[in-house]
Amino acid sequence: MVENRSWLPLVAVGVIAAATIALLSWAVHRAGAAPTVIHYREVLSESALRVLIHDSNLHEQGRQLFLRYCTLCHGINGQGLVGPNLRDDYWLHGSDMQRIVESIANGNPTKGMAPWKPVLSVTDLHALAVYVASLSGNHDTQGKAAEGVKQPIIWRTTSP
Ligand code: HEC
Repeated sequence: MVENRSWLPLVAVGVIAAATIALLSWAVHRAGAAPTVIHYREVLSESALRVLIHDSNLHEQGRQLFLRYCTLCHGINGQGLVGPNLRDDYWLHGSDMQRIVESIANGNPTKGMAPWKPVLSVTDLHALAVYVASLSGNHDTQGKAAEGVKQPIIWRTTSP
């Protein structure tokens, strides 16, 4: 007796459809789970940040973070390599403390500066900004040629 197997193709179509749906939903799930870089906006006021530059512990924390993460591109003394010179009075994105924190937090990936907010705490960002601000205005090294606009940190009266 010959069995009627005309339903077989239907099963095959069903299996393929189920596999396709599973694959698609997996792809959508993966796309949704991809990490999104959140643009960091500094919440401390400019004057509150400026006070931090006199905190020697925070300055030391920033110095150590700078040596660990930043010297590859900005040089051991911040004199500039791939990244701009951080010892001069010239800034691409502004020398206000809020701008410096945001420069570090958000980076500028298309120009080779990574965003550091995903890896560092807000205190680390403040510590780095304090250290970077303390480097600026020191004309004692043969650094990379100035880039950007002259915006000296005149509000800093004493270095920590
Ligand atoms: C892979 C290289 C690289 C590393 C590592 C790096 N930077 Fe940069 N940085 C750059 C480049 C390139 C720019 C200039 C970006 C632009 O043109 O907008 C920049 C810009 C900056 C600016 C803005 C300067 C200005 O003139 O406005 C600051 C501040 C800064 N970096 C601090 C840091 C700190 C702090 C670290 C460590 C946590 C760091 N960078 C690590 C490459 C780097």
